Amino acid sequence: MRFTHVLLAAPAALAIITCAFAQATPADPPGSENLRPGPGKALVIQSCSQCHQPDIVVGQKRDAAAWRELVDQMVARGAMVDEANYEKIIAYLAEGD
Ligand code: HEC
Repeated sequence: MRFTHVLLAAPAALAIITCAFAQATPADPPGSENLRPGPGKALVIQSCSQCHQPDIVVGQKRDAAAWRELVDQMVARGAMVDEANYEKIIAYLAEGD
């Protein structure tokens, strides 16, 4: 009887441990939580976290043209921005505060 209980408890304990680890190592880099939700958020995290926190963009007031200029500078520094994602990133950045 007791042995059965141990057998049932082991997978449950393992699941709890796995969950705790999953929470301890979030996929998003630090600062990501400061980015407002939106279709471009994941792209900004993906392209703009390599050298600084992605929330460096928070509170920066620029229009689309100014963001293009800045993103171009980041690309020149080595940011990996897929051409397909470029305008989505600009739109996300320009929509913000
Ligand atoms: C290859 C490294 C690298 C990547 C990737 C990168 N940046 Fe930067 N970024 C820098 C460096 C270095 C600075 C600081 C130098 C400066 O302020 O000119 C900086 C500064 C900034 C600043 C502050 C500039 C200011 O004048 O206040 C913003 C905003 C910014 N980055 C946005 C972005 C965005 C958006 C992306 C993604 C498209 C990105 N960065 C990706 C290197 C990078």
